[in-house]
Amino acid sequence: MTNELAAATEANRVLEQSLNKRWYPTFHIAARAGWINDPNGLCYFNGRSHVYFQHHPASTQWGPMHWGHVSSADLVHWRHEPIALAPSVEEDSGGVWSGSAVVVDDVQYVFYTGNQWEGDGDGDAKIQRQMLATSTDGIHFEKQGVVIEAPGYSDFRDPKVWRMGDRWHMIVAASSQEGRGQVWHYTSDDLRKWEFERVIFEDPDPDVFMVECPDLFELDGRWVLIYGPMTTRRPSGYACRNGHNAGYVVGRWEPGAEFVIEEPYRPLDWGHHYYAPQTMETPDGRRVAFGWMGGFTLPLASQASDGWSGQMALPRELRLSADGRLIASPIQELDQLRRDSRNWESVTLRADEDLMLASDAAAVEVELELDLEASSAEQIGLLVHATPDGRGTWVGYDDQSRRIVLDRRTAVDRGVRSAPYEGGGVLRLRVFVDRGSVEVFIGDGAESLSSLSFPSDGPRAVVLSCTMGDATVNRIRVHQLDSGWE
Ligand code: FRU
Repeated sequence: MTNELAAATEANRVLEQSLNKRWYPTFHIAARAGWINDPNGLCYFNGRSHVYFQHHPASTQWGPMHWGHVSSADLVHWRHEPIALAPSVEEDSGGVWSGSAVVVDDVQYVFYTGNQWEGDGDGDAKIQRQMLATSTDGIHFEKQGVVIEAPGYSDFRDPKVWRMGDRWHMIVAASSQEGRGQVWHYTSDDLRKWEFERVIFEDPDPDVFMVECPDLFELDGRWVLIYGPMTTRRPSGYACRNGHNAGYVVGRWEPGAEFVIEEPYRPLDWGHHYYAPQTMETPDGRRVAFGWMGGFTLPLASQASDGWSGQMALPRELRLSADGRLIASPIQELDQLRRDSRNWESVTLRADEDLMLASDAAAVEVELELDLEASSAEQIGLLVHATPDGRGTWVGYDDQSRRIVLDRRTAVDRGVRSAPYEGGGVLRLRVFVDRGSVEVFIGDGAESLSSLSFPSDGPRAVVLSCTMGDATVNRIRVHQLDSGWE
């Protein structure tokens, strides 16, 4: 182990001593301790799926980036692995920033952005280069140096590499000289020598100055480009309200050509925390996305004294609907976590009536099928993370706005987000409640809402309720969920 990795591991071990697990995930990926952001280097290698992530092992704040690492044999049960990469050479002295991985025979190739702060590092000026590291076990890496030099301006990062035909392809996010968010395309025969092909995408929104963590793939016969548009504009309306927002466009693309947008930008998720998603192809050919639940802009309650910050959202299988929208549903393997399931059929609730579904529900999945046609209520839904002090997070249908609302009325980190509901008279919701988060999937995953939610002390209940009318509920299932740690 290098000195840098040894020091990072020791600092992380010390921080772990102070870990407060009240909000630490039971079935989501998080670091042993410390800060995490973007998922990196997703791949299947040596019989396991690997998720690396941006990691500050010594602190709950973003800082010099390392790559943390977890792996899994089934995409559900994860095990912590040693820290994979630490800043150790001049070109990555300011952090081993985000990137991706590919596997060729017995070798894993990891591409990341070497960040180097300019001057004394006080400002935002940086030199960003695309760098390579290789591994034969997915655990220990050898840095191979720079493969693409900095273009001469500051923001140039987050390489995503894939194979197509007989060539390797890479896209990199760049902020142009005019301050526009662009995606640059490179190709290679051997993963070491890369040729610049062209700019394949420039965000049509002139206020977007950077498109972080781009990912480009073919899905159901069309092309999808995922990215995180950074803008100076104030939020307005329901979408893009977070400090960092992830979304996608759908269109046409082929090597050598520009990406042609056919379906305009849409958010990937409507909650408070879903950013920097990266996708991988599973061995059986599914396109699965991991996204980060955390925040750069508002401090999180877990950062103050709990010794950790940030987790991954549940892995989501992506498909494309006939009208060119992404459908993101929790991967079916997650059903393995269910135990002690309880069912209710044909429940009618009068206005302002509550039905206790589970009195101790720290880690549960709730499946809910509501008959909106037969219901007169204006709001029908669940209070999750419902604690004895009366606080909780509300997830439900709101008939006035015709939206699905996630309203954190918890003791800390409050706030509302909502997603459009365009389905019919029967509304299906899947709600995953972990110790510090809530994820809501509408229908088959047409929309989702993902937010960290930090409940107060005491047991956390799930309660069904409605207001201003009756609710007809066809079916409710509450599954207690097992630990997702190996
Ligand atoms: C996105 C991001 C990336 C960068 C990394 C640094 O969240 O800003 O663009 O590589 O985080 O941690």
